[in-house]
Amino acid sequence: MSTGGPVNLRDVGRLVADRLDAGPHGYFAGGAGDERTLADNEAAFSRRKLLPRVLVDVSDVTTATTVLGTEIALPVLVAPVALQRMAHPDGEPGMARAAAAAGTIMCMSTLATATAREVAAAAPDAPRWFQLYVLRDHGVTHALVDEAVACGYRALVVTVDAPRAGRRERDLRTGFAVPPGIDMPGITLAAGHSAGLTPADFFSLVDASLTWKDLERLVEAVHLPVLLKGIHSAADARLAIQHGAAGIVVSNHGGRQLDSVPAGIDLLEDVVQEVAGAVEVLVDGGVRRGTDVLVALALGARAVLVGRPLLWGLAWDGEDGARWILDALRTEIERDLTLLGAPSPAHVTRAHVV
Ligand SMILES: Cc1cc2nc3c(=O)[nH]c(=O)nc-3n(C[C@H](O)[C@H](O)[C@H](O)COP(=O)(O)O)c2cc1C
Repeated sequence: MSTGGPVNLRDVGRLVADRLDAGPHGYFAGGAGDERTLADNEAAFSRRKLLPRVLVDVSDVTTATTVLGTEIALPVLVAPVALQRMAHPDGEPGMARAAAAAGTIMCMSTLATATAREVAAAAPDAPRWFQLYVLRDHGVTHALVDEAVACGYRALVVTVDAPRAGRRERDLRTGFAVPPGIDMPGITLAAGHSAGLTPADFFSLVDASLTWKDLERLVEAVHLPVLLKGIHSAADARLAIQHGAAGIVVSNHGGRQLDSVPAGIDLLEDVVQEVAGAVEVLVDGGVRRGTDVLVALALGARAVLVGRPLLWGLAWDGEDGARWILDALRTEIERDLTLLGAPSPAHVTRAHVV
């Protein structure tokens, strides 16, 4: 008997496509330029094949693992994604509760529509990370970091692939700007207001002069592990380690920044080889299936981040919808690990992917 409800992550995406207004939908769904990288993020997973091993005891499979020493129930984190109250009034606090219920880490964005304190209060016992855009106003940047530290965020994820906004043509076509009634407290701190701003406006607040030296100073100043998000090349992965990064997120920002760069999953292995275990490497972009997560683990990722599907979940049914997405992924990963012949994420090796 069919219930007619969604069965997988993409089903939820299709469901909400008709419900969201054109502006917010284009902002959430879109990528930069011709959206080649956006499309390739998902296509890259279909080019990889899993190679199962048989007659392995898979009577007791766990999806649990750790990232930077924190235990998580599945190797999937909530990616930092802007403007979540534009998807649903539950916004970032709802997303934080969903992540906590699923047993994983939420990474809150600088462009969140809630304060770091509100997000922390929504799920006080859950681990959380803070994504930082280093702003030209260093006073505001320091205030954001201090607040994250004070509110118990366990890591800082510095996004380094966005010195300005990518050319997002869906936003140009819809004339997208932050709708009235939606506030990004971090941006309001720097710009005085956030409603009415375009992505080009709020990215113009980012410090485009940032270099490795500044990064090193930041690492020394904050007493939190710093991950760099938006690393594409092995050369930059090496520099990240040399300048004190505690982790690397191989990411092209969901295809929203420089178009025509490779999919994250295709860049992962070079970075993992360069890093040689010195720090943990995470990856994001286009993860829609448990099997995608296994491919990422096999190529050396500690865990993946998921962006848009969680927005679709939130837009569909608020906190419960985001929870549904994480539960669906966990259920898929558990089955897929069993069929791959790997009783846990730690058992997935390079030999499991061809
Ligand atoms: C609507 C939207 C907003 C985003 N906002 C941010 C952000 O504020 N900071 C950031 O570092 N990355 C941001 N990202 C990128 C995500 O963290 C992540 O890299 C990307 O969504 C992963 O790809 P996926 O959406 O295919 O899972 C955003 C992505 C989307 C789709």
